[in-house]
Amino acid sequence: MTTVSQVYGSRKDDHVRLAVEQHHQRGAGVEVNQFDDVRFVHDALAGIAESAVSLTTEVAGTDWAAPLYINAMTGGSTRTGEVNRGLAIAARQTGVPIASGSMSAFLADPDLAPTYRVLRDENPDGFVVANVNANATVDMAKRAVDLIAADALQIHINTIQEIVMPEGDRDFSHWPSQIGKLAEALDVPVIVKEVGFGMTRSAVRRLADLGVTIADVSGRGGTNFATIENARRPHQDFAYLRDWGQSAPACLIDDQAIAGQRGVTLLASGGVRQPLDVVRALALGARAVGVSGYFLSVLEGEGVDALVSTIADWIVQIRQLMVVLGAPTVPDLVKTDVLVSGQVAEFARLRGID
Ligand code: FNR
Repeated sequence: MTTVSQVYGSRKDDHVRLAVEQHHQRGAGVEVNQFDDVRFVHDALAGIAESAVSLTTEVAGTDWAAPLYINAMTGGSTRTGEVNRGLAIAARQTGVPIASGSMSAFLADPDLAPTYRVLRDENPDGFVVANVNANATVDMAKRAVDLIAADALQIHINTIQEIVMPEGDRDFSHWPSQIGKLAEALDVPVIVKEVGFGMTRSAVRRLADLGVTIADVSGRGGTNFATIENARRPHQDFAYLRDWGQSAPACLIDDQAIAGQRGVTLLASGGVRQPLDVVRALALGARAVGVSGYFLSVLEGEGVDALVSTIADWIVQIRQLMVVLGAPTVPDLVKTDVLVSGQVAEFARLRGID
């Protein structure tokens, strides 16, 4: 008989393996994605002193030392517990916040708790985020938060991934009311996130109506869960979903007005490949930027020390880019001169955004 933990375990191991393959297939160079449609207009005299730049950003009522975090990935098997250990060590050594992967496996089988608890054990003083899906009850979400003494809770919404999975959910009608209940009942801040297909203004408006104040747009252009789930099943072909959704830059442009009106903090992730993408997303209104697939591929390919130095280098380079852009703080980046071209500009035009 196959146990709950075997089913979750092999799925979680597959996700890590296939996500890393996806990132390695892209080769040594940086794959083109819609972040490239966002260009800063260079001002040769805008530069300021490095000492004048502060990377601090406020998210979920807390000051983060840098506008960068390790976004949700894994847990639920022996192997992914070790991946979480590496990610948690990197978070501790660089001071960046970290989100757990979906904790559904722990909620179904408490024996899997150590594969998530390692996120807190290795990083006792860090900002750690729990993660559940939008089917979770208040009790389940509280158990997930308690297990890792989480500072916030992410609720992931992933309709496309679910439909590509034969065993996935087929009824999403209760998600909004469930999200509303969780946002109301939890003692920690709630962040609602996509998983790589993007969140446009209709979803952000809906979340604001439900009392959610933080949304992570998690757009397309990086890890692609339609492709990953499709690859796990040779007899099913959802390859045509590979281009579904909107990129993080497109979402940020789409969401800016409603987020401002309704007081929703936007976080950005999905397809972030380099420090410049972080700064681009911040200039488009994100409060902080999350990275999953790229950091995972560094950890899996080169080990934890390489991930630590990658994140540390990114933080240095984010600061340097702010120096040349003349932006002393993260909110000042929104005032920089940005040109949007290509598919993102076309999307904005079709959406009626100037
Ligand atoms: C993810 N992601 C994810 N998100 C989530 O909310 N819960 C989860 O359990 C997972 N699991 C997961 C596993 C693996 C191996 C990866 C790479 C990613 C999605 C992730 O948080 C993010 O939204 C997307 O991966 C897009 O960002 P990147 O990978 O393009 O930086």
